[in-house]
Amino acid sequence: MLAQNTFRGTHSSSLAASSQTSTSYTAIKVHNAFSTTNGSPHNTQNYSYFFSNSLAKTRRARRRKKAFLARASSSGTENKTLEWFNFGPRGTMLQQTFADGPPLHVSTPLIYSQPLSERNERTTYIKMDNCQPSGSFKLRGLGYACQKALVLDGKKSFVSSSGGNAGLAVAYSGYRLGAKTTVVVPETTPAFIRDRLESYKAKVIVHGKQWSEANGLAEKIALEEDAFFAHPFEGEDTWTGHATIVHEMCAQLRDAGETVPPSFICTCVGGGGLLLGIAQGLREVGWAKTDVLVSETVGCDSLFQSVQKNELVTLPAITSVAKSLGAAQVSPTAFDLTQQWKREGKSPRVTSTTVTDDQALDACKNFANHHRALVEPACGACLALSYEGRVRDATNDTNDAGCVVVQVCGGAITDLSAFSSSSSS
Ligand SMILES: Cc1ncc(COP(=O)(O)O)c(C=O)c1O
Repeated sequence: MLAQNTFRGTHSSSLAASSQTSTSYTAIKVHNAFSTTNGSPHNTQNYSYFFSNSLAKTRRARRRKKAFLARASSSGTENKTLEWFNFGPRGTMLQQTFADGPPLHVSTPLIYSQPLSERNERTTYIKMDNCQPSGSFKLRGLGYACQKALVLDGKKSFVSSSGGNAGLAVAYSGYRLGAKTTVVVPETTPAFIRDRLESYKAKVIVHGKQWSEANGLAEKIALEEDAFFAHPFEGEDTWTGHATIVHEMCAQLRDAGETVPPSFICTCVGGGGLLLGIAQGLREVGWAKTDVLVSETVGCDSLFQSVQKNELVTLPAITSVAKSLGAAQVSPTAFDLTQQWKREGKSPRVTSTTVTDDQALDACKNFANHHRALVEPACGACLALSYEGRVRDATNDTNDAGCVVVQVCGGAITDLSAFSSSSSS
């Protein structure tokens, strides 16, 4: 297995330096000595597995094998030049935000996954955002939005209305930044989450039967206190923070020996903030030929239904176990993003699909067995794209020789008991 910790060696320091000194969106050329390492997925021996037996019979596998062999035969001694646009790991977040301290999120590992590579019939990496201190990718965007509000906009306190991972990210941010934080949650929020929010010294107010009621009060408090209102998935700063996922990937994939941008990035959709961040990152690094495969569970599928009906759909109820994906209506900006490819050919191409609760839960269990990490069913929805063969069946006409990156968004609202009643495959 290849564990790619970020920004090692010569490239790393130059990228880190460029990101710290530059506040403009300057694109730099990256020159990379392309070499193979023992045990690398670019080793012919390892790859022979993917092309064995019946798989080799398919036209798709033959095409990929040809591409792989062409790459493998030219590797080793030759220097390849990569011209991927790169802003450094902090992406396009404003550097002044970090005058008093670094970002709150961490650069997460990008790890080669043999089990997912086998299922996808492509080299597949997992981007481990379950390793974020608050338990999910949410800290990237909300951490940045909170820190920027404090440092650059003069806000003194934060308010959130999320009893989920967004609330945890805001509470963690307040704790780390020493800012007063209030989280308004609906009555349905379990006690253990309230406890966890309070462990970050957040003031927890329980209000209303539904999220919309809690959100209404949160907005009112933010207005009265002139606090920063941290929306769970809307907001340009939040998307800019999430976009760092792609910026990190840029250098990590290069260090892993990849020579072309990924064919696919897999992710899931709740309100759509994660998707918008990934799309922004792809545009910023210039990966116009990377497609995004997005997944929701049936019962949380506000984006999928909107795409099917060609209009924004509001779900009457959230009926899936993947509660973190439970936005009754997806962000209009996220819905519009899915239409831009059809309308104007503007990348990325986003393909929306659904999986069942059982498929999401099975994916969580299989992932725990394969990679020793526990994630929420929300994340399982994304993992199921690989475990259920959806990625294997996908094609990218313009960039079919690239790898797959699975965004492991994580989620702290889970423990082993969540998986005890579902069947394992
Ligand atoms: C673990 C996890 N994954 C994915 C999502 C979906 O993110 P978004 O609402 O930005 O689409 C959420 C949302 O809360 C989440 O908590």
